[in-house]
Amino acid sequence: MKVGVVGLGYVGLPLAVALVERGCEVVGVDSDQRKLAALGVGESYIEDIASERLRAVGSKLYPSRRYADLAACEAVILAVPTPLTRNREPDLGPLVAAGTALANVLQQGQLVVLESTTYPGTTSEWLAPLLEESGLAAGRDFNLAFSPERIDPGRTDYTLANTPKVVGGLTDACLQRAVALYRIVCDEVVAVSSTEAAELTKLLENVFRSVNIALVNELAMLCDRMKIDIWEVVEAAATKPYGFMSFKPGPGMGGHCLPVDPFYLAWRAREFDTPTEFIELAGEVNQAMPYFCAEKIAHALNDHEKALRGSRIAVLGVSYKPGVGDLRESPAIKIMRILAERGSELVYHDEHVPELGDFGLFCQSLEAVLDRADVAVILTAHPGLDLQAVVDGAPLVVDFRGVTRGIEAKHLVRL
Ligand SMILES: NC(=O)c1ccc[n+]([C@@H]2O[C@H](COP(=O)([O-])OP(=O)(O)OC[C@H]3O[C@@H](n4cnc5c(N)ncnc54)[C@H](O)[C@@H]3O)[C@@H](O)[C@H]2O)c1
Repeated sequence: MKVGVVGLGYVGLPLAVALVERGCEVVGVDSDQRKLAALGVGESYIEDIASERLRAVGSKLYPSRRYADLAACEAVILAVPTPLTRNREPDLGPLVAAGTALANVLQQGQLVVLESTTYPGTTSEWLAPLLEESGLAAGRDFNLAFSPERIDPGRTDYTLANTPKVVGGLTDACLQRAVALYRIVCDEVVAVSSTEAAELTKLLENVFRSVNIALVNELAMLCDRMKIDIWEVVEAAATKPYGFMSFKPGPGMGGHCLPVDPFYLAWRAREFDTPTEFIELAGEVNQAMPYFCAEKIAHALNDHEKALRGSRIAVLGVSYKPGVGDLRESPAIKIMRILAERGSELVYHDEHVPELGDFGLFCQSLEAVLDRADVAVILTAHPGLDLQAVVDGAPLVVDFRGVTRGIEAKHLVRL
């Protein structure tokens, strides 16, 4: 089978590689010339896909900039970004560009599947008419479906193959074709009755996480006042064998999904006169966390008779989660911006992020950042971070990830 994948990022590239590994030929279309050039020489830019694995798929993955190359594919999967505008409203710009370009080359009998996270109604009310500009009718001349991606970058226990894949089709025939496509790479495919149900399934999953993280973050702020160890409380609650699911507090929510996707639903809900208050409240609490963390660092320095202004702060981990270099919506970057505005001198250590152009900073060794630091701040604890070396090497440590819980030291402060 020949499959097209549009958007070779965190979602599209692993999918394209998996399809080739299961015997498909894949045309991968991306608008980013640098990514295409890297793929052309077998260099991966996604942590989950080792370059060796990419090289092993060889010419069965054909990277291209040209949508015309998709004309020969039986199915085309769209995995382009769905960000928010500056005013936190859905930005369908990349999807408009991809849909318009695809409509120009769409063929009778093709299956198109949207994987980008979006609000319910996007596929049927918005993508279908866009693709019908081709003169072909959705559900009759070509099939259309939505299937949300559940990939969790950096994760190895749950992969594309063993994570059930939800699929909804515009018609029954659309659904059946999409189910057959995903059976190639997924052990279990879950069919739902409509594209809207599939779209909302993804949003429910992300809203669920966002709300629960907000709840535990709110408790972390309360615990700070009440001098109770939030980590101990979460760990103790997690011993309940039923009816409780553990979420960890932290410096805020990052990544492309959690801080963004719930607002797609909140925006759509306004059209139906239904306020989504849990979503808005969770967003408020999670967005407040970086400011709370900056204040916590200021208090810790104050207790050491120092001010934020003029202090040298060693930031440990700047990506949004352990094990990956993804900086999108990273709370660490927000905290660094607040600290820089308040006159702190910043240095950072994160082996997954070689440089931070906006700050004019380069990653330095752990030893180098701890040298002369007034405080070391653990914002993202990548695997392999030598915590004892951090505690031994800094005059003050603030840990926002609860990773130093096994270490006792007077100069150690935790969220
Ligand atoms: N990253 C995740 O963990 C994750 C998980 C589940 C769902 N999603 C969703 O999947 C979608 C893609 O996310 P991602 O993380 O892979 O994004 P990404 O930015 O890593 O990749 C998107 C790719 O699309 C390309 N692109 C943009 N516009 C294009 C166009 N018009 N034509 C061709 N290529 C174009 C970009 O160059 C980029 O390589 C989003 O809707 C996201 O919400 C992401």
